Amino acid sequence: MADLIDPFGRRIEYVRLSVTDRCDLRCKYCMPQGFNDFEEPEDWLTPDEIERVIGAFGRLGTRRIRITGGEPLVRKNLPALAGRLAALPGIEDLSLSTNATRLDKHGQALFDAGVSRINVSLDTLRPERFKEITQGKLEKVINGLMAAKQAGFHPIKINMVVMKGVNDDEVEEMVEFCIEHDFTLRFIETMPVGETGRAATDQYISLQDVKARLADQYELIPGMMPGGGPARYVQVAGTDLRIGFITPISQHFCETCNRVRLSVDGTLYMCLGQEESYPLRELLRAGISDAELEQHIVKAIALKPERHEFNEKPDQVVRFMSMTGG
Ligand code: GTP
Ligand code: 5AD
Ligand code: SF4
Repeated sequence: MADLIDPFGRRIEYVRLSVTDRCDLRCKYCMPQGFNDFEEPEDWLTPDEIERVIGAFGRLGTRRIRITGGEPLVRKNLPALAGRLAALPGIEDLSLSTNATRLDKHGQALFDAGVSRINVSLDTLRPERFKEITQGKLEKVINGLMAAKQAGFHPIKINMVVMKGVNDDEVEEMVEFCIEHDFTLRFIETMPVGETGRAATDQYISLQDVKARLADQYELIPGMMPGGGPARYVQVAGTDLRIGFITPISQHFCETCNRVRLSVDGTLYMCLGQEESYPLRELLRAGISDAELEQHIVKAIALKPERHEFNEKPDQVVRFMSMTGG
């Protein structure tokens, strides 16, 4: 069967796979404080079902899978699932987005299973501030990061959501930290995804301003980075550091969109900022064939919208980030 092409001529070859909507942290912009309305586990796709859907995507030209959550490592036996996905025909790039709290335990197993790249959320290097933003312990994340480095992951990308009055004073410290540890650094603009995301847009700061501020202090030259995501990179002259800017608000990147999202309950979401979706779980459980599954995926891709409308419709609140993994 031919590759997946959406109505706007974009080739869809990257699936972001959420393996749980649970998380051991509570980042203010992502998950609500008392949020316990989790999908019931019987509604979760089983590892067999996930493997089946990703296998179908692989036959339809998908080359990249990124495992997300919630926090993916709260799902039991994740390294075993990762190993099964890495072995699927067509899948060349298996990556993971994580908060790193459990990487000291599972980092080596994930690396050995074939996860080649990891991205780690880290908004601050100050323990008190970390607690304020996430309700968790910074030390665990730092330990996880060091364990991941030890396990052999390279590059390791740090994701920092930059928030005015919260952590925007730490941008330079984060640059120095990433130079010291040979991490790649990415800055992210807050997105109005879920009630929490919308609340965080009060702290929105344009990364164009952050970039200008950094350009006063460092020589930034155009750079490149392996990956399939929306970041635009520069390199800091005289160092190995690459900095990516993820700017959904100040300079969106939808015209190059190459991805869809599979949530843990088996729903395919066509866009992070829109509601178009296609439920696969019931179909899988009704016993459809592999050929039928592929046809349903083709139909789903036909629903993909052109772009998000975070700027035009800031009050349109889509589901929480923790449901579709960002
Ligand atoms: P690689 O480039 O493959 O390393 O991954 P990535 O940057 O796509 O993945 P990651 O999970 O680290 O996401 C970083 C940030 O980019 C998160 O805040 C995501 O929500 C955001 N992001 C990723 N894909 C999209 C997208 O399609 N649209 C929008 N608006 N944001 C996205
Ligand atoms: N806006 C921007 N980025 C977000 N993330 C989670 N919620 C938001 C939001 N509302 C980021 C996390 C993580 C990545 C997968 O998504 O910090 O690094
Ligand atoms: Fe693609 Fe939607 Fe993200 Fe734009 S917002 S890059 S269309 S998923």
